[in-house]
Amino acid sequence: MTDAVPDNRDDQRETPRLAASSEVRVRVPAKVNLHLSVGPLRPDGYHDLTTVYHAISLHDEITASRADTLELTMIGDGIDQLPTGGDNLVVRAATALASHTGRTPGVRLHLRKRIPIAGGLAGGSADAAATLVACDALWGTGLSRDELMTVAATLGSDVPFLLPGGTALGTGRGEVVSPVLAVGSWHWVVAIAAGGLATPEVYGELDRLRAAGRTRRPAGEPDRLLAALRQHDPKVLADTLANDMQAAALALRPELRQTLHAGAEEGALAGIVSGSGPSCVFLAADADHAAKLAARIAGRGVCRTVRVAHGPVPGARVAH
Ligand code: C5P
Repeated sequence: MTDAVPDNRDDQRETPRLAASSEVRVRVPAKVNLHLSVGPLRPDGYHDLTTVYHAISLHDEITASRADTLELTMIGDGIDQLPTGGDNLVVRAATALASHTGRTPGVRLHLRKRIPIAGGLAGGSADAAATLVACDALWGTGLSRDELMTVAATLGSDVPFLLPGGTALGTGRGEVVSPVLAVGSWHWVVAIAAGGLATPEVYGELDRLRAAGRTRRPAGEPDRLLAALRQHDPKVLADTLANDMQAAALALRPELRQTLHAGAEEGALAGIVSGSGPSCVFLAADADHAAKLAARIAGRGVCRTVRVAHGPVPGARVAH
Protein backbone atom coordinates (compact mmCIF):
# COMPACT_ATOMS: atom_id res chain seq x y z
CA MET A 1 0.00 0.00 0.00
CA THR A 2 2.87 2.41 0.67
CA ASP A 3 6.21 3.20 -0.84
CA ALA A 4 8.31 2.35 2.16
CA VAL A 5 11.55 4.29 2.29
CA PRO A 6 14.76 2.75 3.70
CA ASP A 7 14.61 2.59 7.47
CA ASN A 8 17.67 4.62 8.33
CA ARG A 9 16.24 6.44 11.31
CA ASP A 10 19.08 5.24 13.58
CA ASP A 11 21.51 7.06 11.29
CA GLN A 12 19.44 10.23 11.56
CA ARG A 13 19.39 10.22 15.36
CA GLU A 14 21.39 13.07 16.77
CA THR A 15 21.13 11.67 20.28
CA PRO A 16 24.52 10.66 21.67
CA ARG A 17 24.11 6.91 22.31
CA LEU A 18 27.19 6.15 24.44
CA ALA A 19 28.40 9.16 26.39
CA ALA A 20 25.89 10.48 28.92
CA SER A 21 25.38 14.29 28.91
CA SER A 22 24.86 16.66 31.86
CA GLU A 23 21.97 18.60 30.29
CA VAL A 24 19.91 17.71 27.24
CA ARG A 25 17.36 19.84 25.40
CA VAL A 26 14.91 18.09 23.09
CA ARG A 27 12.49 19.66 20.63
CA VAL A 28 9.44 17.69 19.58
CA PRO A 29 6.76 18.52 17.01
CA ALA A 30 2.97 18.31 17.01
CA LYS A 31 1.24 15.97 14.58
CA VAL A 32 -1.80 16.10 12.36
CA ASN A 33 -3.50 13.10 10.76
CA LEU A 34 -3.79 13.62 7.01
CA HIS A 35 -5.86 10.43 6.87
CA LEU A 36 -7.55 8.75 9.83
CA SER A 37 -9.60 5.65 9.26
CA VAL A 38 -11.06 4.18 12.47
CA GLY A 39 -12.15 0.53 12.69
CA PRO A 40 -14.63 -0.94 15.18
CA LEU A 41 -14.07 -0.91 18.94
CA ARG A 42 -11.71 -3.75 19.99
CA PRO A 43 -12.17 -5.85 23.13
CA ASP A 44 -9.21 -4.00 24.75
CA GLY A 45 -11.00 -0.63 24.44
CA TYR A 46 -8.94 0.62 21.50
CA HIS A 47 -9.85 0.94 17.82
CA ASP A 48 -7.78 -0.36 14.94
CA LEU A 49 -6.57 2.55 12.83
CA THR A 50 -5.12 3.23 9.46
CA THR A 51 -3.69 6.69 9.67
CA VAL A 52 -1.17 8.91 7.94
CA TYR A 53 0.68 10.93 10.54
CA HIS A 54 2.39 14.16 9.56
CA ALA A 55 4.68 16.06 11.96
CA ILE A 56 4.33 19.86 11.76
CA SER A 57 6.43 22.78 12.96
CA LEU A 58 4.70 23.53 16.26
CA HIS A 59 7.11 22.43 18.97
CA ASP A 60 7.31 21.65 22.66
CA GLU A 61 10.67 21.45 24.39
CA ILE A 62 11.96 19.27 27.24
CA THR A 63 15.18 20.03 29.10
CA ALA A 64 16.58 17.19 31.21
CA SER A 65 19.39 17.54 33.74
CA ARG A 66 20.89 15.40 36.45
CA ALA A 67 19.10 15.02 39.78
CA ASP A 68 18.71 12.37 42.49
CA THR A 69 14.93 12.19 42.18
CA LEU A 70 12.37 12.88 39.46
CA GLU A 71 11.43 16.57 39.37
CA LEU A 72 9.16 18.29 36.86
CA THR A 73 8.57 21.98 36.18
CA MET A 74 6.40 23.33 33.34
CA ILE A 75 5.78 26.67 31.67
CA GLY A 76 3.42 27.61 28.86
CA ASP A 77 -0.18 28.01 27.90
CA GLY A 78 -2.63 25.72 29.72
CA ILE A 79 -0.12 23.89 31.93
CA ASP A 80 -2.46 24.43 34.90
CA GLN A 81 -4.73 21.81 33.26
CA LEU A 82 -2.00 19.15 33.30
CA PRO A 83 -1.47 16.68 36.15
CA THR A 84 1.76 17.28 38.07
CA GLY A 85 2.18 13.80 39.57
CA GLY A 86 2.44 10.25 38.26
CA ASP A 87 -0.27 10.76 35.63
CA ASN A 88 1.73 13.42 33.79
CA LEU A 89 2.98 11.90 30.53
CA VAL A 90 6.46 13.37 31.08
CA VAL A 91 6.69 11.68 34.48
CA ARG A 92 5.27 8.44 33.06
CA ALA A 93 7.82 8.44 30.22
CA ALA A 94 10.83 9.01 32.50
CA THR A 95 9.57 6.35 34.92
CA ALA A 96 8.92 3.85 32.11
CA LEU A 97 12.41 4.32 30.61
CA ALA A 98 14.06 4.05 34.04
CA SER A 99 12.19 0.86 34.84
CA HIS A 100 12.90 -0.62 31.39
CA THR A 101 16.63 0.00 31.87
CA GLY A 102 16.76 -0.93 35.57
CA ARG A 103 17.67 2.42 37.09
CA THR A 104 16.00 4.91 39.43
CA PRO A 105 14.43 7.83 37.54
CA GLY A 106 16.81 10.57 38.75
CA VAL A 107 16.23 13.53 36.44
CA ARG A 108 15.12 17.16 36.57
CA LEU A 109 12.72 17.79 33.67
CA HIS A 110 11.51 21.14 32.47
CA LEU A 111 8.68 21.28 29.92
CA ARG A 112 8.16 24.36 27.75
CA LYS A 113 4.66 23.90 26.34
CA ARG A 114 3.60 25.51 23.09
CA ILE A 115 1.49 22.76 21.49
CA PRO A 116 -2.14 23.27 22.57
CA ILE A 117 -3.36 20.85 25.23
CA ALA A 118 -6.10 18.32 24.30
CA GLY A 119 -6.17 19.83 20.80
CA GLY A 120 -5.92 16.69 18.63
CA LEU A 121 -2.28 17.57 17.91
CA ALA A 122 -0.71 14.88 20.15
CA GLY A 123 0.88 17.43 22.47
CA GLY A 124 0.97 15.06 25.46
CA SER A 125 2.33 12.22 23.33
CA ALA A 126 4.96 14.62 21.97
CA ASP A 127 6.11 15.43 25.51
CA ALA A 128 6.37 11.72 26.32
CA ALA A 129 8.47 11.11 23.18
CA ALA A 130 10.71 14.10 23.98
CA THR A 131 11.21 12.84 27.53
CA LEU A 132 12.24 9.39 26.26
CA VAL A 133 14.84 10.94 23.92
CA ALA A 134 16.09 13.36 26.60
CA CYS A 135 16.43 10.72 29.34
CA ASP A 136 17.92 8.23 26.89
CA ALA A 137 20.67 10.77 26.11
CA LEU A 138 21.11 11.95 29.71
CA TRP A 139 21.40 8.45 31.11
CA GLY A 140 23.28 7.00 28.11
CA THR A 141 21.00 3.97 28.12
CA GLY A 142 22.28 2.56 24.81
CA LEU A 143 18.77 1.33 23.92
CA SER A 144 18.16 0.53 20.26
CA ARG A 145 15.64 2.54 18.29
CA ASP A 146 13.29 -0.46 18.33
CA GLU A 147 13.47 -0.74 22.14
CA LEU A 148 12.74 2.97 22.49
CA MET A 149 9.74 2.53 20.15
CA THR A 150 8.54 -0.36 22.35
CA VAL A 151 8.70 1.76 25.50
CA ALA A 152 6.98 4.60 23.58
CA ALA A 153 4.05 2.32 22.65
CA THR A 154 3.38 1.62 26.36
CA LEU A 155 2.84 5.37 26.91
CA GLY A 156 0.26 6.09 24.20
CA SER A 157 -0.75 5.18 20.66
CA ASP A 158 0.76 8.33 19.08
CA VAL A 159 4.04 8.32 21.04
CA PRO A 160 6.04 5.96 18.74
CA PHE A 161 5.36 8.17 15.68
CA LEU A 162 6.77 11.23 17.44
CA LEU A 163 10.22 9.59 17.69
CA PRO A 164 10.89 9.50 13.90
CA GLY A 165 8.31 12.18 12.97
CA GLY A 166 8.16 13.07 9.28
CA THR A 167 5.21 11.53 7.44
CA ALA A 168 4.36 7.95 8.36
CA LEU A 169 1.68 5.31 8.09
CA GLY A 170 0.26 4.24 11.45
CA THR A 171 -1.58 0.94 11.95
CA GLY A 172 -2.61 -1.24 14.89
CA ARG A 173 -3.96 1.26 17.44
CA GLY A 174 -1.59 3.80 15.81
CA GLU A 175 1.60 2.51 17.43
CA VAL A 176 2.87 0.50 14.43
CA VAL A 177 4.67 3.10 12.36
CA SER A 178 6.31 2.92 8.94
CA PRO A 179 7.65 5.91 7.03
CA VAL A 180 6.08 6.94 3.73
CA LEU A 181 7.58 8.86 0.87
CA ALA A 182 6.48 12.52 0.86
CA VAL A 183 8.04 14.98 -1.56
CA GLY A 184 8.83 18.54 -0.41
CA SER A 185 7.10 20.64 2.23
CA TRP A 186 3.41 21.31 2.81
CA HIS A 187 2.02 24.49 4.33
CA TRP A 188 -0.74 24.51 6.93
CA VAL A 189 -2.82 26.85 9.04
CA VAL A 190 -3.85 25.46 12.40
CA ALA A 191 -6.99 26.92 14.01
CA ILE A 192 -6.87 26.25 17.74
CA ALA A 193 -10.20 26.15 19.58
CA ALA A 194 -10.90 27.43 23.07
CA GLY A 195 -10.93 24.34 25.31
CA GLY A 196 -9.91 20.80 24.45
CA LEU A 197 -11.67 17.53 23.64
CA ALA A 198 -10.85 14.31 25.52
CA THR A 199 -9.77 11.67 22.99
CA PRO A 200 -11.71 8.75 24.60
CA GLU A 201 -14.92 10.82 24.50
CA VAL A 202 -14.53 11.48 20.78
CA TYR A 203 -13.95 7.76 20.08
CA GLY A 204 -17.02 6.99 22.22
CA GLU A 205 -19.11 9.50 20.26
CA LEU A 206 -17.95 7.93 16.98
CA ASP A 207 -19.04 4.48 18.25
CA ARG A 208 -22.46 5.94 19.18
CA LEU A 209 -22.90 7.67 15.81
CA ARG A 210 -21.99 4.45 14.01
CA ALA A 211 -24.37 2.36 16.13
CA ALA A 212 -27.14 4.85 15.24
CA GLY A 213 -26.22 4.68 11.53
CA ARG A 214 -25.37 8.37 11.55
CA THR A 215 -21.97 8.32 9.84
CA ARG A 216 -21.34 8.60 6.13
CA ARG A 217 -18.46 8.00 3.74
CA PRO A 218 -15.78 6.24 5.81
CA ALA A 219 -12.20 7.37 5.14
CA GLY A 220 -11.25 3.89 3.89
CA GLU A 221 -7.73 3.23 2.62
CA PRO A 222 -5.26 6.13 2.22
CA ASP A 223 -3.98 5.09 -1.23
CA ARG A 224 -5.04 8.30 -3.01
CA LEU A 225 -3.51 10.42 -0.27
CA LEU A 226 -0.23 8.49 -0.40
CA ALA A 227 -0.08 9.00 -4.18
CA ALA A 228 -0.79 12.73 -3.72
CA LEU A 229 2.05 13.02 -1.16
CA ARG A 230 4.48 11.69 -3.80
CA GLN A 231 3.11 14.01 -6.49
CA HIS A 232 3.41 17.21 -4.46
CA ASP A 233 0.51 19.16 -5.89
CA PRO A 234 -1.40 20.80 -2.99
CA LYS A 235 -4.61 20.86 -5.06
CA VAL A 236 -4.41 17.09 -5.52
CA LEU A 237 -3.62 16.52 -1.83
CA ALA A 238 -6.54 18.77 -0.87
CA ASP A 239 -9.01 16.31 -2.32
CA THR A 240 -7.65 13.34 -0.36
CA LEU A 241 -7.60 14.51 3.31
CA ALA A 242 -10.01 12.39 5.36
CA ASN A 243 -10.80 11.86 9.03
CA ASP A 244 -13.40 9.44 10.44
CA MET A 245 -13.19 11.24 13.79
CA GLN A 246 -14.40 14.51 12.30
CA ALA A 247 -18.11 13.60 12.48
CA ALA A 248 -17.74 12.79 16.19
CA ALA A 249 -15.75 15.95 16.95
CA LEU A 250 -18.41 18.03 15.13
CA ALA A 251 -21.21 16.29 17.04
CA LEU A 252 -19.52 17.21 20.34
CA ARG A 253 -18.48 20.70 19.18
CA PRO A 254 -20.97 21.91 16.52
CA GLU A 255 -19.23 25.31 16.40
CA LEU A 256 -16.26 23.66 14.64
CA ARG A 257 -18.41 23.70 11.49
CA GLN A 258 -18.10 27.49 11.51
CA THR A 259 -14.31 27.19 11.77
CA LEU A 260 -14.22 24.78 8.80
CA HIS A 261 -16.59 26.96 6.77
CA ALA A 262 -14.55 30.08 7.52
CA GLY A 263 -11.37 28.35 6.30
CA ALA A 264 -13.09 27.27 3.07
CA GLU A 265 -14.54 30.74 2.49
CA GLU A 266 -11.16 32.38 3.07
CA GLY A 267 -9.51 30.25 0.39
CA ALA A 268 -8.06 27.16 2.11
CA LEU A 269 -7.47 24.34 -0.36
CA ALA A 270 -8.94 21.95 2.21
CA GLY A 271 -9.75 21.83 5.90
CA ILE A 272 -10.19 18.97 8.38
CA VAL A 273 -10.43 18.41 12.10
CA SER A 274 -7.03 17.25 13.34
CA GLY A 275 -7.20 13.78 14.93
CA SER A 276 -9.85 13.82 17.66
CA GLY A 277 -10.02 17.64 17.51
CA PRO A 278 -10.90 20.33 18.27
CA SER A 279 -7.98 21.87 16.33
CA CYS A 280 -8.70 22.27 12.61
CA VAL A 281 -5.96 22.25 9.96
CA PHE A 282 -6.18 23.98 6.60
CA LEU A 283 -4.00 23.25 3.60
CA ALA A 284 -2.42 26.24 1.83
CA ALA A 285 -0.78 26.38 -1.59
CA ASP A 286 2.54 27.71 -0.25
CA ALA A 287 4.08 29.62 2.67
CA ASP A 288 2.82 32.99 1.44
CA HIS A 289 -0.73 31.68 1.01
CA ALA A 290 -0.56 30.13 4.51
CA ALA A 291 0.40 33.48 6.08
CA LYS A 292 -2.45 35.31 4.31
CA LEU A 293 -4.95 32.55 5.05
CA ALA A 294 -3.97 32.56 8.74
CA ALA A 295 -4.57 36.32 8.97
CA ARG A 296 -7.97 36.00 7.29
CA ILE A 297 -9.10 33.08 9.46
CA ALA A 298 -7.92 34.91 12.60
CA GLY A 299 -10.03 37.89 11.50
CA ARG A 300 -13.16 35.73 11.42
CA GLY A 301 -13.08 35.14 15.19
CA VAL A 302 -14.01 31.45 14.84
CA CYS A 303 -11.25 30.06 17.07
CA ARG A 304 -9.01 31.01 20.00
CA THR A 305 -5.82 31.40 18.01
CA VAL A 306 -4.32 30.64 14.62
CA ARG A 307 -0.83 29.37 13.81
CA VAL A 308 1.07 28.76 10.59
CA ALA A 309 3.08 25.53 10.30
CA HIS A 310 4.88 23.44 7.73
CA GLY A 311 5.57 19.76 7.50
CA PRO A 312 6.94 17.21 7.47
CA VAL A 313 9.49 17.93 10.22
CA PRO A 314 11.63 15.45 12.17
CA GLY A 315 10.40 13.92 15.42
CA ALA A 316 11.91 14.32 18.92
CA ARG A 317 15.52 15.48 18.48
CA VAL A 318 18.29 16.76 20.73
CA ALA A 319 18.59 20.51 20.04
CA HIS A 320 22.09 21.89 19.69
O1 C5P B 1 -3.23 5.50 23.30
P1 C5P B 1 -3.75 6.66 24.07
O2 C5P B 1 -3.46 6.55 25.54
O3 C5P B 1 -3.33 7.98 23.53
O4 C5P B 1 -5.33 6.59 23.90
C1 C5P B 1 -6.19 7.34 24.72
C2 C5P B 1 -7.58 6.75 24.57
O5 C5P B 1 -8.07 6.96 23.26
C3 C5P B 1 -7.67 5.25 24.78
O6 C5P B 1 -7.83 4.93 26.14
C4 C5P B 1 -8.90 4.89 23.98
O7 C5P B 1 -10.08 5.22 24.69
C5 C5P B 1 -8.82 5.85 22.80
N1 C5P B 1 -8.15 5.24 21.64
C6 C5P B 1 -8.85 4.32 20.87
N2 C5P B 1 -8.25 3.75 19.78
C7 C5P B 1 -7.00 4.09 19.44
C8 C5P B 1 -6.27 5.03 20.18
C9 C5P B 1 -6.88 5.60 21.29
O8 C5P B 1 -10.00 4.02 21.15
N3 C5P B 1 -6.44 3.52 18.37
